[in-house]
Amino acid sequence: MAPENHPIPIILDCDPGHDDAIAILLAVQSPLIDLRAITTTFGNCSVADATRNALRVLALAGAGRVPVAIGAAGPLTGVTELGNYVHGASGLDGPTMPEPVSAPVERSATELMLEVISSSERPITLVATGPITNVAALIREHPEVVPTVREVIFMGGSTERGNHTPAAEFNTYADPEALDIVLRSGIPIRMVGLNLTHQALATPAIVERMQAMSHVVGHTAAEWMGFFGSSYRNVWEFDSPPVHDPCTIAALIRPELVRWRECFVAVETRGEWTRGATVVDLFNRYGRPANARVAIELDAAGYWDLVLDAIDALGAATTGSSTRHLGEHRRDGP
Ligand code: RIB
Ligand code: CA
Repeated sequence: MAPENHPIPIILDCDPGHDDAIAILLAVQSPLIDLRAITTTFGNCSVADATRNALRVLALAGAGRVPVAIGAAGPLTGVTELGNYVHGASGLDGPTMPEPVSAPVERSATELMLEVISSSERPITLVATGPITNVAALIREHPEVVPTVREVIFMGGSTERGNHTPAAEFNTYADPEALDIVLRSGIPIRMVGLNLTHQALATPAIVERMQAMSHVVGHTAAEWMGFFGSSYRNVWEFDSPPVHDPCTIAALIRPELVRWRECFVAVETRGEWTRGATVVDLFNRYGRPANARVAIELDAAGYWDLVLDAIDALGAATTGSSTRHLGEHRRDGP
């Protein structure tokens, strides 16, 4: 069970994006998550496309009530690089998506974040699954919120190699200065890097379980994995795509799914070939105090049971049909 045994209030800052889209479904469906708002950022695609995609995923999930605010169109400094080469021209290529049933709020992402944090009866968890620019901007514009944020848990970086470049994972490459601000902020931080998310592979067996669901939510997720998988085969020679972003939400819902290590983490902002790389001091070679908890090991079978059960439950709730037979999933792990 999640800590304190009642829903964890979160803001999901994301760049949907195929894996962000699954993270949204998981956050909407889980009774242990209270999704107070979504803020969007550039990253997998333009912030305009990410916002349209977020609204469409919320429409698919029957969650048009969740407020969405438009965030950063580019990094705090430096050149804007996008991930359409992985996620397609729309940022969420593959299945036809429902039209949005809601519109973004007038406020900016940082204004909505500030409003939600300031008015919440309990500390808010900030979940970032794209370039962490909006969170950094909030810290820079409103340092008074730092003591009131429960934690930042972000998908980004790696204890090993990168993906967008040999050294840097895409989210941290896209705005390393933003991550540096967050790492230095004093807010409790958890880092979910590629070393963890590459354990969360949407294998053919996993995709078949999505396809076997008797509703559009499961079939849409399967088609997302089809497109995402083709990109991962073509660019990085993966047999199956790593579904990165829902690992952050899953760790909140079922803490036992992830093993963590307290480490000193830095992000390179100046390297000619290493800009955006996260330097994770797993063995305390620098002797510096730890500033983050870094995800090390994932219970992949448990992760996929959680994600697939959530997708099936959401599909059943929005369409009234389900193939959900609790316990059936546990026999045929990924
Ligand atoms: O490198 C993977 C990360 O970059 C994921 O969050 C993916 O959605 C992209 O944003
Ligand atoms: Ca993302």
